[in-house]
Amino acid sequence: AKSKIVVVGSLNMDVVVKAKRPPRMGETILGDEVHFVPGGKGANQAVAAAKLGSEVTMIGSVGQDPFGHSLLRSLQEQGIRSQTVRVLPGVPTGVASIILAQEDNCIIVVSGANSHCQPEHVAEYQEYIKMADVVLLQLEIPLDTVQYAAQLAKELGKTVILNPAPAQNLPDTLLRNVDYITPNQSELELLTGISPEKEGLEAGMNQLLKRGVRHVITTLGREGAAVLSSGEPLVRVAGYRVPVVDTTGAGDAFNAGLACALAEQKRVKAAIDFAGKVAALAVTKLGAQPGMPTRAEVNCTFFERGADAT
Ligand code: RIB
Ligand code: NA
Repeated sequence: AKSKIVVVGSLNMDVVVKAKRPPRMGETILGDEVHFVPGGKGANQAVAAAKLGSEVTMIGSVGQDPFGHSLLRSLQEQGIRSQTVRVLPGVPTGVASIILAQEDNCIIVVSGANSHCQPEHVAEYQEYIKMADVVLLQLEIPLDTVQYAAQLAKELGKTVILNPAPAQNLPDTLLRNVDYITPNQSELELLTGISPEKEGLEAGMNQLLKRGVRHVITTLGREGAAVLSSGEPLVRVAGYRVPVVDTTGAGDAFNAGLACALAEQKRVKAAIDFAGKVAALAVTKLGAQPGMPTRAEVNCTFFERGADAT
């Protein structure tokens, strides 16, 4: 049977402007390309998981406008259950304004309908959470809703993954319901107040374990990831070397890969290695959702190891 994943999270239309460099404040420059690409951390993770072969349900909200409809279509094209996405009148669909310059980007997200995704919305669709193997959460919808979803999922005995992006302070009552948390290094610092550079990677990760998370996975970009589970030493998993086109959605690809692998009963280290491959392929293509690889692409690619794990 297919593994079942429920994503509770955001949907955004990404307005991607490609330019040689970002403008300075007060400056006008000419860009090279514009693309309207389906995005949003929640929807990106849902699409990636579906492309990897999971049965996916997306819980979230969009506005009653053309962006909202095209985001829903993007989910439906991947066979994702999306009657669970509410179409809200009177509020705009979430938009991410993305400037893509060389290898890096900067993003402003205007949440719109995402900020109207309430706990009772999750409650209404709990039958799907009951059937899930893994529940996948991010921080682009109200924190109350994330907390509610994590608690419900935990009560139902599900595996909960929290991608703490964009990072904000999190209460221990949420962390106690999280099996896997997946910050990058700057998110880890924001969550814990502990600098990975100054105090070492393990210090912040340890704090999250003490606050109730079961496994902390810190993503390290091209260097791969590190995982700390209670009572065990820190383990590093090497990354893969790829030509970078667009890093938007790389974290989402990683989280979806992790969710699929864990839903398929892979061990943590193997799950992280698989997630790293999914993320590596995602950065080789432009756009969040269109850039997500299929299971066949992950299986058929010859991957070159990046920096060696220590
Ligand atoms: O993680 C990438 C996503 O973050 C983009 O698709 C954009 O919508 C922002 O939410
Ligand atoms: Na991409």
